Amino acid sequence: MERLYTKDTQAIFWNNNKTAIQRMLDYDYTIQRETPSVAAIVAPTSGNKFEKFFYGPDEVMIPLFKTTAEAKAAQPQADVLLNFASFRSAYDVTMEALEIGGFSSMMITAEGIPERLARGMNQTAREKGVTVIGPATVGAITPGAFKVANIGGTITNIVNSKLHRAGSCGLVTRSGGLFNELSNIISINADGIAEGVAIGGDRFVGSVFIDNLLRMEKNPDVKYMILLGEVGGTEEYKVIEAIKNGQITKPVIAWCIGTIAKHYDSGVQFGHAGASANAESETAEYKNNAMKEAGIHVPNSFNDLPAMINKVFTEMNIADIPEPEMNTVPASRRSKEFICTISDDRGEEAHYCGFPISSVATPETGFTIGDVMSILWFKKRYPRWAVDFLETVLKTVADHGPAVSGAHNAKVTARAGKDVISSLIAGLLTIGPRFGGAIDGAAEHFKYANDNDLTPKEFLGHMKKSGIPIPGIGHRIKSLKNPDLRVTGLMKYAKENFPSTPLLDYARTVEELTTSKKENLILNVDGTIGILMVDMWRALGYTDEEIDVFIDAGALNAFFILGRSIGFIGHILDEKRLAMPMYRHPMDDILYDVKKAEEL
Ligand code: ACO
Ligand code: LMR
Repeated sequence: MERLYTKDTQAIFWNNNKTAIQRMLDYDYTIQRETPSVAAIVAPTSGNKFEKFFYGPDEVMIPLFKTTAEAKAAQPQADVLLNFASFRSAYDVTMEALEIGGFSSMMITAEGIPERLARGMNQTAREKGVTVIGPATVGAITPGAFKVANIGGTITNIVNSKLHRAGSCGLVTRSGGLFNELSNIISINADGIAEGVAIGGDRFVGSVFIDNLLRMEKNPDVKYMILLGEVGGTEEYKVIEAIKNGQITKPVIAWCIGTIAKHYDSGVQFGHAGASANAESETAEYKNNAMKEAGIHVPNSFNDLPAMINKVFTEMNIADIPEPEMNTVPASRRSKEFICTISDDRGEEAHYCGFPISSVATPETGFTIGDVMSILWFKKRYPRWAVDFLETVLKTVADHGPAVSGAHNAKVTARAGKDVISSLIAGLLTIGPRFGGAIDGAAEHFKYANDNDLTPKEFLGHMKKSGIPIPGIGHRIKSLKNPDLRVTGLMKYAKENFPSTPLLDYARTVEELTTSKKENLILNVDGTIGILMVDMWRALGYTDEEIDVFIDAGALNAFFILGRSIGFIGHILDEKRLAMPMYRHPMDDILYDVKKAEEL
C-alpha cells in the first residue's frame, strides 16, 4: 500500500458518534469529495435504519447496521474501519473485523485496552496485512482526500493548518494533540502535509513509526518526513536502521519529546502509557543524539524545530502547490422533517425514481401500470415477467362480487349517502386477517416453515401451537370440489413464467395435508399471492432480509388493497347509479338475545 487513504476511501464507522461523523462529512464537503467518507455506521443497540447528517447545506442518510458483518456486506467497498468502541469492546470489534476481512486499515480510538490483548490484536492484523492506527489515537489524515473523525480539529483549524489539501510532508507522531500542533507549524514553515498519522500513545500500538515511514517512502506525494517521537520505547532505532540500510532515502526531520526527563531524579511517566524510559537508550535525549548521528535532521530543541522544517523544505525547492477550490460549510443549517426516496416534484417535471412522468405515462413509453408500481413501491423496474405478474395479481383480485365482506360494507356505506372516499374506506377497513389481508401472513409463515425445513405436519403443529389459522389456507365457498380458478390461473402463470417456484411447491404439499382434513382448506388466493411474491423476489435476487422488510411493512396486502379498490369503487358507483335507498338489515335476520340489565 503506497497511500493510507485516497479521495475514494470510505469507512465503516463503529459507534454512532454523531459529532465525529459530522466533522468527517463537513471535511468531505469542504474538499469537494464526491462520496461521503463514511459509508455505514455500526450501532448495535439502535433500532434505526439510518442517521441523517449534513453534507454542506443538504442532508445525506448514512445506513445504520447492528453488526460489522452486515455493514461490510452492504458496503463492501468501505475498506477502513473506524473503531470508536469503548476500551471494553474495542478489542472484540477489531478481532471480528479482522476475521470478516476486506479492510485495508483500522483505526482504534480506545485508550486502555489490556496490553496482552493489544499485542495479540496487533500481531493478528500484521499477519493479515492490515494497517492498524492506534489504539489510543485521534487517527490519521490524507489532506484533500480523507480525514479520520476529529483529527485536525474544526474546519477552521483544518483550513488554517492547510489540512484541506495535500502538501509534501509525511508526518508521524504519537500524540494527537501534538499532531495538530505540528501540522500548524508545518503549514507555516512549509507547504503542509501529504499524509499524517498519530500512531497513538499506548505502549503497544498497531503500526509503529517505521511502518508508516516505509509506506510514506513509497508514497510519491510525500517528499520528506517528520517524525515526532517521545521518551520511552525503542521504535526510533528501527527508523535509524532503515536509513542506514537504504530503505528510507527521503529526508527525515525528527525530534523526541521528553528531554525534560533528565531534570527529574527518578524515571517519569508522562501522559501516554508508553511515555516512560526503562533504559538510558529509551530517553528522549539519547534517541535524539542517535538520530542526529544517523543523518536525520534533529534540531537542538523543540523550539528550533520550525526553523529546521523551514530549512529542509526550502532546500528541497518543491514547486508551489496551487490552492484548490473549496466549499464553505454554511454557518447555520436546518434538519429536514420528512424524507422521500421515491419521487421528486422539484424542477420542471416530477420524477418517479428518476423517471420523468412523461417518460412512463403514455403507451409508447413501454411502461405499464405494473412498471410504475414496481418503481414507486420497490424502487426498481422489474423484468417483464415480474411486472406482468404484479398486474395479473391486481386484475385477479379486482373484485369478487357484492357478497364479500369489503364490497358489502362499501355498498352499505354508499347507500347511507356517503361519498366515494368514505364508502371506499369503509370497504378497505374490512380487509384484514380473514378477508384479503392474509397475504403478508401467508408469506411470513410459509417462508418460515420452508426456511426451517418443517414438514407439512410439523408446520401445522407449529401453527396450532401459535393458536392462529394458517394465513392463506381456507375459503368460505371454494374447495377441492369447487376450485378457485383465480388460484389456478396465478399458479399457471408462475409455472410458465417464473424461473422457479420453490415456496409454491412447498405450499402445495401443505395444502395436500389440510385438504385431506377438510376439503375447503385449500391454498386460497391470498396465500397463493403471498407465496408467489416470495418466489418472485427470490428470483429477482432479493435477500431474505430484504424480503422480510417488505413483509413487515405490509407490502403484500397492499396488492389486494390496490386491486380490490377497483372493485369497491365499481360497487359504490353502482349504488350511486341505481340511486339505492338507505339499507336497513331485516330484523328477522337478527337473533335478539337481550336480558334485562342487572341493578348495581
Ligand atoms: N388453518 C387451519 N384451520 C382452519 C383454517 C386455517 N387457515 N381455516 C379454517 N380452519 C378450520 C377451522 O379451525 C375450523 O375447524 P373446526 O371445524 O375444527 O372448528 C374449520 O376449518 C372451519 O373454520 P371457519 O373459520 O368456520 O371456516 P370458514 O370457511 O368460515 O373460514 C376463512 C374461511 C375465514 C378464510 C378461514 O379459512 C381462515 O381464517 N383462513 C385463514 C385466513 C385467510 O387466508 N384469509 C383469506 C381468505 S381469501 C380472501 O379473503 C381473498
Ligand atoms: C375475495 O376475493 O373477496 C374472496 O376470496 C372472499 C370470498 O369470500 O369470496
